[in-house]
Amino acid sequence: MPEKTPAVPGPATGPRSNYNNWISAIGAVIAIGALFSFALLVWMDFTQGEKNPYLGIFTYLVAPAFLVLGLGLAAFGAWAQRRWMIRHAHAPDRWRLDFHSRAQRRGMLALGAGCLGFVILSAFGSYQTYHYAESNEFCGRVCHEAMNPEWVAYQQGAHARVDCVECHIGSGARWFIEAKLNGAHQLVAYTLDSYQRPIATPVKNLRPAQHTCEQCHWPEKFAGNVELVFDHFLSDKRNTPYTARMLMHVNTRTPGHPMGGIHWHVSQEERVEYFATDEKRQVIPWMRVVNLKDGTSRVFRTNDFQGEPPADRVRVMDCIDCHNRPAHSFPTANDAVERAMFAGSLTRSLPNIKRSAVQAMTQKEITTDAEAPERIADFLRARYREPAQQAELPGAIAEVQRIFSQSIFVERKADWRVYPNNIGHKDWPGCFRCHDDKHKASDGRKVRASECSSCHTILAQGNGSQLDLLASKGLEFKHPSGELDPELTCADCHNGGLQK
Ligand code: HEC
Ligand code: HEC
Ligand code: HEC
Ligand code: HEC
Ligand code: HEC
Ligand code: HEC
Repeated sequence: MPEKTPAVPGPATGPRSNYNNWISAIGAVIAIGALFSFALLVWMDFTQGEKNPYLGIFTYLVAPAFLVLGLGLAAFGAWAQRRWMIRHAHAPDRWRLDFHSRAQRRGMLALGAGCLGFVILSAFGSYQTYHYAESNEFCGRVCHEAMNPEWVAYQQGAHARVDCVECHIGSGARWFIEAKLNGAHQLVAYTLDSYQRPIATPVKNLRPAQHTCEQCHWPEKFAGNVELVFDHFLSDKRNTPYTARMLMHVNTRTPGHPMGGIHWHVSQEERVEYFATDEKRQVIPWMRVVNLKDGTSRVFRTNDFQGEPPADRVRVMDCIDCHNRPAHSFPTANDAVERAMFAGSLTRSLPNIKRSAVQAMTQKEITTDAEAPERIADFLRARYREPAQQAELPGAIAEVQRIFSQSIFVERKADWRVYPNNIGHKDWPGCFRCHDDKHKASDGRKVRASECSSCHTILAQGNGSQLDLLASKGLEFKHPSGELDPELTCADCHNGGLQK
């Protein structure tokens, strides 16, 4: 604490304050400057409506850091000065405590008050910093600009109001520290610009779903069938609509039977384990169902997988093995175009626009984000040259450019092609990774649910008046392009772009 120079006459002989040195002076200037900018920034933070993501970093990380640096410098200067005085001038050590001295008592009081103030301020500051580091803005935009694809996808999902950290960190000190350690290493990669493009999936050390998903969706609460409606448009001249209305047997209960239906995989009675040979968990040759009540188990495997999988690579199935894209799902070009057509933002009156839009988005020639808009425009202009089409064309081009910017991130190499969605089976193997009639138990029995109707009932399909009547017993699937070869899986032809 600086001490006032005691009023001793004679300027040259008066004891000099330890703080009276250049290092402390520089420190004081830094500290005062930082304090002022901190105050100004806090004021801005509280009064600005539209938050600038960088403001938080300056307010709660940079300014306090300079404040602490300044104070530290001032103290260091005084310490060095005192050492020097004791050694060279044989001056009395003026830092000896003496409660009899009135000046010292006052000094102590002031020091105490100062410390208390600083502690309160820094508690507030670190609370704000903590919150800030946890905010979606921080995750999605500032430090993790690398995660821009996830950020854009996230804002369109059902969890757009659920914070990134609710799934990626969850509560509890251990996970917080682990996440921050991991974050620090990511920060280095980000600063050096050496992070992966695309960021790898799946996340290896994602917190177990019981700690995250199940904080909001608890298994006992799951009930009954869920209706889903899939709206498509065919790649024909008239962009014919095609809709499938389906009842998903998410959780169907029959009295006296174990909990069945799709959510059976996460039931309390049985546990599903599996082994995937690839990083993205797309190829699954082996799985085991363990009955948690009596400990018995049954193993299913494909013909070409013999032996046992390495124990450390066996994964227990949980929510994210099916819902692996709950928050930031990258729509396929096919789905994104259909969604825009359904919403009416992409015209349906241009002939073949479904096909052309998907082709425009998936051109090989697009190699950077910057050139995409021009290439898309050129592609569509070349397709639609007739005078009657010119009125609709600019709107269609703008819409396809918008869809592209929201779903394909060329420079990050991120789009649906690298981020599979495991929930269905049309564009990725999904459920058919295991439910493909190729996994058999030792007694030759196949996985129970291999009929189409064991997972869902088709209530209506087609278009127009075909959708007016609902078939409660379910319909046989009528594939829009005709009879299907049972040897082929859907994903053999459908890949999110144009069908092979
Ligand atoms: C509802 C839960 C949930 C929310 C909210 C969420 N994520 Fe994720 N995220 C996941 C899951 C689950 C995975 C792992 C997917 C896998 O392992 O297959 C994941 C994976 C990721 C990955 C790895 C690459 C990838 O796409 O698979 C990144 C990066 C990521 N999330 C960033 C974010 C950011 C940034 C936010 C907030 C803007 C966010 N996440 C919000 C559940 C969530
Ligand atoms: C903080 C609470 C919270 C957490 C954590 C959370 N969710 Fe959700 N989830 C919600 C809410 C709220 C909705 C409903 C959104 C709506 O109705 O639009 C929802 C909707 C859903 C839906 C159905 C909506 C859809 O169409 O996609 C699924 C599936 C889902 N969550 C799965 C998950 C999974 C898997 C996780 C863990 C990775 C998870 N949730 C974590 C709050 C949460
Ligand atoms: C075997 C795959 C699978 C697993 C494992 C799984 N789900 Fe689901 N879940 C589904 C399917 C399929 C649906 C139907 C909706 C769809 O197809 O998008 C669904 C629907 C849901 C819904 C939406 C219900 C509604 O009313 O809209 C929620 C919420 C949900 N699941 C949460 C979870 C949570 C939490 C877990 C983990 C405890 C979990 N699921 C595990 C496949 C799974
Ligand atoms: C193991 C369970 C399971 C089996 C077996 C199954 N499906 Fe599905 N199917 C699903 C799920 C889950 C979805 C929903 C995906 C989603 O939420 O996007 C789905 C979606 C669909 C869709 C709508 C896809 C879209 O994008 O329009 C069709 C059509 C369909 N299934 C047909 C079939 C047919 C035909 C069979 C039999 C050959 C079959 N399914 C067998 C689980 C299954
Ligand atoms: C990791 C492998 C695996 C994946 C992926 C998987 N399942 Fe299963 N599923 C199983 C196993 C194993 C059984 C039980 C087989 C048995 O005991 O006969 C099962 C059983 C079922 C059942 C019957 C449950 C009952 O009522 O007894 C349904 C329905 C089902 N799965 C739907 C789905 C859907 C929908 C998906 C995709 C969203 C999916 N499964 C993905 C392994 C898997
Ligand atoms: C032999 C290749 C092939 C197989 C296998 C196949 N499809 Fe298709 N599918 C097509 C073609 C071609 C079209 C027509 C394309 C169009 O008009 O857009 C189509 C159209 C569709 C459409 C409507 C339009 C769209 O683009 O989404 C749905 C839905 C669909 N198929 C679902 C499935 C499902 C579910 C399976 C598996 C049970 C499946 N298909 C298997 C080739 C195939």
